[in-house]
Amino acid sequence: MISDDLFTRFYAIYGKPENQPRLFFAPGRVNLIGEHTDYNGGYVLPCALQYGTYLLIRQSSEEMIKLASANFEFRADIRLADISRKIDSQWVNYPLGIFDQFRQMNLNLPGFEIFYSGDIPNSAGLSSSASIEMVTAYALSVMINAIQLSMWDLIKLSQRSENQFVGVQCGIMDQFAVGMGAKDHALFLNCQTLDYNRVPMILNGFKFIIANTNKPRDLTDSKYNERVAECQLAVSCLSQIISISKLGEISYVQFYKMQDEISDPLIRKRARHVISENQRVLNSMACLNRGDISQFGALMNASHESLRDNYEVTGFELDTLVEEAQKINGVIGARMTGAGFGGCTVNLVRESAIEDFKSHVGAGYHAKTGLKADFYLAEISDGVKEITNHS
Ligand code: GLA
Repeated sequence: MISDDLFTRFYAIYGKPENQPRLFFAPGRVNLIGEHTDYNGGYVLPCALQYGTYLLIRQSSEEMIKLASANFEFRADIRLADISRKIDSQWVNYPLGIFDQFRQMNLNLPGFEIFYSGDIPNSAGLSSSASIEMVTAYALSVMINAIQLSMWDLIKLSQRSENQFVGVQCGIMDQFAVGMGAKDHALFLNCQTLDYNRVPMILNGFKFIIANTNKPRDLTDSKYNERVAECQLAVSCLSQIISISKLGEISYVQFYKMQDEISDPLIRKRARHVISENQRVLNSMACLNRGDISQFGALMNASHESLRDNYEVTGFELDTLVEEAQKINGVIGARMTGAGFGGCTVNLVRESAIEDFKSHVGAGYHAKTGLKADFYLAEISDGVKEITNHS
């Protein structure tokens, strides 16, 4: 069982005195539709995955937080006085950012020994970072009995940590999906009001298959921040004629009447993506509510086209993987998921076509890019939690 091995590894690093560590888990996520809409106050439809990050944690009497991971060699023993100091481009900055948030809220932390182990592929756009942030925030809140912190507080502080400490101006979708995930349900979130619904995923013989481009991602964070800034520019152009603070506040119909206010064609395209994508999420909800899976698949395809042509966050590998998928009989929707620039696609595939999908898409993708794609079946799972039945 996975947890036996985790405990053994924990003891190998930190020794085995009397008190047992506690085990926590936070999933990764896949976004089904609604991409680059969250920081624009729009709609998203993500769900939590079976893959995620395990964390074992034990309080210690030393004035230190010790961090180790099964996935990275780098380890850090950090004095409590230094827990909010960044360490150059290391994975520990994700937990350090969370400690920093706790410090800013005057929530004192004692010494801890912490061990992480994750099975979300890194840099795949499946939120391995939000998963580390949320599992850390949740575990700390339990360990120090901070019952005043709700799940929403943990979600918001994890997002702030990524904005302020890690330096990515991300929206709230990833931390939200990791925190609020529900088995067999997608989550429809209004990122402006934070109202959300659980949407039962009744797929009638279809499955979501995630395909990883395995393209090494570079400059993702800076290109992401560039898109955030471009949307802000679009808002300031439109603000000449309408009072808005985010693109998500205007409808598709309104935008088409006022789009000429944005004189720069590149900025206009960026806004067109966000506003049309918002409408696609609303249309997707209508499709899912009436059980129209094939129309939902068509909206996924349209989302990819807009991310490719208007938002320009796809690139050769993601586009190839989507094109190869769309050639397969039994695929009704295929699109990139997450920030883009590499990472994964999500595909709605008829169960009987899954094997065909993997072999043909894998071969076609390899022939065109020289890269080997990986495939994962998405099992929609619960959000962050403590695992107590592990021994
Ligand atoms: C990343 C960010 C999210 C969201 C997506 C794009 O995953 O962390 O907040 O903006 O990209 O939809």
